[in-house]
Parts: sequence; C-alpha cells; structure tokens
Amino acid sequence: MRILIAGNGGREHALLWKLRRDAPSASFFATLPNGGMAPLCTGVGISPADVVALAGWAAASRIDLVVVGPETPLAAGLADRLRRVGIPVFGPSAAAARIESSKAFAKDLMAGAGVPTAAYEVHTNGDAAEAHIEAMGTPIVVKASGLAAGKGAVVCRTVADAVATARDMFAGAFGEAGRRVVIEECMEGEELSVFCLADGEDFVALLSSQDHKRIGEGDTGPNTGGMGAYAPVGFVTDELMHEVADRIVAPVLRALAEGGSPFSGLLYAGLMITGDGPRVVEFNCRFGDPETQAVLPLLSSSLLEPMLSMAEGSGLSGHSPSFADAAAVTTVLAADGYPGAYRKGVPITIPPLPGGVQVFHAGTALESGRLVTSGGRVLAVTAVDRDFGRARAASRDAAASITFEGRQFRGDIGWREAERRG
Ligand code: AMP
Ligand code: GLY
Repeated sequence: MRILIAGNGGREHALLWKLRRDAPSASFFATLPNGGMAPLCTGVGISPADVVALAGWAAASRIDLVVVGPETPLAAGLADRLRRVGIPVFGPSAAAARIESSKAFAKDLMAGAGVPTAAYEVHTNGDAAEAHIEAMGTPIVVKASGLAAGKGAVVCRTVADAVATARDMFAGAFGEAGRRVVIEECMEGEELSVFCLADGEDFVALLSSQDHKRIGEGDTGPNTGGMGAYAPVGFVTDELMHEVADRIVAPVLRALAEGGSPFSGLLYAGLMITGDGPRVVEFNCRFGDPETQAVLPLLSSSLLEPMLSMAEGSGLSGHSPSFADAAAVTTVLAADGYPGAYRKGVPITIPPLPGGVQVFHAGTALESGRLVTSGGRVLAVTAVDRDFGRARAASRDAAASITFEGRQFRGDIGWREAERRG
C-alpha cells in the first residue's frame, strides 16, 4: 500500500506516526516533509496548495490513499481533484470544506439547522459593523470570515477595541479573509474539541480534547494556532457526547448532505460548554492541531481502516474506534515572537527523552543534517501515562529539556483538568 500525507505540520507528523503503526509495511509519502517526518517517508516536493500537480503526481505514482491534513488545500479542491482522477482520498470536497473556509456559510448552515451557536451578523463595511457593535455592547467577538490560521478571532472587551479590530480587518489585516467580518455574541464557558470521522450522515466521535489557544500561561495574550492540548477531558460525560452528537453533529451533517455538499472526512466541532449546554464556536473540516497530537497516541484501534473505507466509498462500515485507558498531554514549543513575526533557521537540540514521550515535529527542517526551526509552532511534545498528573509533568519536563534560542512554551497545559482533579 502507498499512502500520501498532504501537509507538514505537527498534526501531519502525528497522522504519519499513527498510520505507520497501523500499516508497518506500507510505503509512505509526504508533500514537503518537515524535519521529523522526513526520516519516516519519501518527500514528494510538491506543495499541497498545488492541487493539480499533486493530484497528477498521486495518479502517476499509483497512490492508494491520500490523507489531507490542512484546510487550505481542501478549500482549494484537492480532494475533488483527487477523486476526479480516481485516487482514494480522506478529506472533504471544497463545497463541504466551506463549513470551515467560510464562517458566514457555517453560520448560515447552523442557523438553518437549528444548531446552538453564538448570535452573529456578517458585515462588509466598517460603518455598519460599528453600528452593530455599539448596539450589541461588549464583550463581543470580531472575526475575519475567511481562513486565518486560527488567529482571525478577537474577543473584545470594549466597544472601541471591537470597532478598531473590525476596521483593521476591513483594511486588510487578514487579507482577503477579512473582507467579510463576523460580529458575534461572546459565549462564556469551557472550550472542547470533538473530532468525528464523518461520511455523509454517518459519523463516530473520537476522544474529546481541549486546546490552549492563547500564547500565555493562564490563558492570556493573543490567540495562536494552539499551544497545547490534552485528552480525554474529565468533565465530558456520555450524556454530553450524546447531546453534541444529536444537537450539533447530526443536524449539520444532514444540512450539508441536503444542500448537495455531503461531508466525508474529519469533522471537528469546536464547542463552548456553556450554562445552556454545548454551543458551537466553529467547525473545522480537518483534524485539529495540536489536539491530534494528544488524541491519536491514545487511539488503540486502526485509523487507517476507517480512513481507507471512507476514501474508497464504503463509508464508515461500522468501524468504531477504541482508546487506551490513559491520558495524553501535549506541550507546543513555539518560536521567539510567535504568534507575531518570528525567525527561522534556529538550531534545535532534543536530548534523549523518557519512554511514553513522543515528539511531533511541526515547523522544523533538516539543513545539512542539522535540525532547525522553520515555522511558528516548532514541536509538539506528547506524554502518555495512565495518570493524568504524571502525563502532564512528563510533557512539561520534556518540553523544558528541548532547547532552541528564544523558545516559548506554556508550562500550564492541562491546568483546568488538574484543578478539576484537585
Ligand atoms: P475561531 O477563529 O472561530 O476558531 O476562534 C478562535 C478562538 O476565539 C476560539 O477558540 C475561542 O477561544 C474564541 N472565540 C471565538 N468565538 C467566540 C465566541 N463567540 N465566544 C467566545 N469565544 C470565542
Ligand atoms: N487547535 C485548533 C485548530 O486546529 O484549529
């Protein structure tokens, strides 16, 4: 079997790591492998954004399965193109990926399907946005409608801040993504990430997890792509998962199918667990990063089997995942300056690490055999242990032992869970 992973972040390294365990004798390929993926697969040398070239390569190379990691190539139609040339692919069509690539589309879909989410309005100019912000009051959330790598939402505490943020977006702070601005009611509660393998109206949820979006300890500072994660989340009961399935995931999948854009791939529900129950913050059309680096090490059943079955058009075929009775905590190491501008090419030193600790590479590269930084989020360090507290300490200690100039990481990943457990 020949398997191609499109994408080269921490999530894709985790997907490669898991699929290699599921299929030790398969041949693995990756588009532009990072420094951790490169020794495990063959690099293709084509960007996932180059949809036509990549699909052509996959067809010529007799690839049996393409797993698409990031949202951008999905939104650009990579899965559609692969299907057209007869290559099995795990990942939704561009039309279904609008659940993530257009917040306005997602919001309209949820409204139509009666899915609980924050009240919102979509604006296309600063004056209308300002009037709406003044009428709504604060706190309020201002978001670029298009893709913005997890950094396009700003929770604003004052009207002046909200108005200035919206005007910046219209002025191009997020490029095309900010031509439409969503102004949203601010929901209060704890966030939860729920991943579902979804095919049409059929779906199955994986273990729930929690991301840490802010750069600073204690959840302070600007939003990032995600500074750490853990799984499973202690407050999640079977009852809550049923509520999420029945009130959120099922109606959205039905609405997509009925609208002619059935979803096949990984549907990620980003939720706020409020006093009124779970409400949707956002949907993503792919695995979360860094939650995947926490969830996949706990997945004891095959990921390849359901992916292949879905990619080949046989649906989920009754595949239901099973998980180790353990906890996973993932600490992200980021470059100096992230989520703002950062330097690349900084040498990284990773000492020998204890068992139960796995380093997933994100923004790394091998330069003449030497490991250097090449992105904002550089590494994700996952520790698995039957005991949550031990997993948490091991992840933090391992992150602290890895060095590169200016590195930043949060030493408090999993703090809410630790507080809950006392
Ligand atoms: P998004 O870009 O939609 O993924 O939002 C990024 C982050 O902003 C979320 O993970 C939340 O922490 C926060 N956020 C977004 N929308 C809301 C909302 N309506 N209420 C409260 N927090 C939000
Ligand atoms: N961890 C958030 C995301 O993947 O969008």
